[in-house]
Amino acid sequence: MLALLKLLQDGQFHSGEALGVALGISRAAVWKQLQALQGELGIVIHKVRGRGYRLEAPLHLLDAQRLNAPAVTPRWLAHVHSRVDSTNAEALRLIPAAQQIPFYVVAERQTNGRGRRGRDWVSPFGENLYYSLVLRIDGGMRQLEGLSLVVGLALLQVIRDVGVVSAGLKWPNDVLVGKQKLAGILLELSGDPADVCHVVIGIGLNVNMRAHGQQTIGQPWTSLQGELGRVLDRNELILALNQQLERYLAIQLNESFAALQQEWQDNHLWQGSAVALTAGSEPVQGVVLGVDRSGAIRLDVNGLEQSFSGGELSLRLRDDS
Ligand code: BTN
Repeated sequence: MLALLKLLQDGQFHSGEALGVALGISRAAVWKQLQALQGELGIVIHKVRGRGYRLEAPLHLLDAQRLNAPAVTPRWLAHVHSRVDSTNAEALRLIPAAQQIPFYVVAERQTNGRGRRGRDWVSPFGENLYYSLVLRIDGGMRQLEGLSLVVGLALLQVIRDVGVVSAGLKWPNDVLVGKQKLAGILLELSGDPADVCHVVIGIGLNVNMRAHGQQTIGQPWTSLQGELGRVLDRNELILALNQQLERYLAIQLNESFAALQQEWQDNHLWQGSAVALTAGSEPVQGVVLGVDRSGAIRLDVNGLEQSFSGGELSLRLRDDS
């Protein structure tokens, strides 16, 4: 089925006969596979009499050879899957036997994509980036400080470089355009954070997401394609992301998050905004002052400055109707 999809990914018309010849199967078998592509993967295929079949939109499938080509830097091994429960879960499973770290996992689709705070991450086939990078941390807790914010900066740079210049950050690590979510980050740890451990940096970026996700995503969202009006090649995005991550993670490692504190605040869409911070049952009302040297959010709460950090916290604009 994937071989057929590869032939169709250019978005041009292909006759059933030509597809059958290329794959060494009958026209009836081609038709059966086309049904499966539509039914199982939700891919929309148009059929026009006399011309053949074409995808509703061209597709750039993930290309393991290109991602692992010898000239690519940084030399991080790519594990490429067409389907996985969650790239974070797969990355965690691969750690014990890994020959080389960093490595990363990407997939065409996730059947159990994980979001922050126990939410699902909608992960349709072939449309978006589902990416998990594994790093070894042997500098203890200090090296983890502000890490998810640093990842947000690297991701934002990739997004700006392809032309979405209005994208910005929302503490702790969402990327938004206006009020619409474009990307999210989920860090998961394996091992003892006080000693040697591994961190999985999970990134979900809406690239060519189509509207079929609209009902299932519980918040306003956008995609790179929605912002730019063109289909993007996820392989190029992955290669750019690896380069930006390498650059920002080196700053974090050598100088700590403090070196990126100002840059992060400059890109925070909610700087100076009145917010409600959900931390347990009672939301804390305050005005965003910025982030501290460890990446915690600083709020003015009734004239007093308070800092908050932790994976379960989330911010909401107070005037959001
Ligand atoms: C969020 O809720 O904002 C974080 C979403 C993180 C989703 C990504 S997709 C790749 C990686 N694998 C997962 O299961 N989750 C992360």
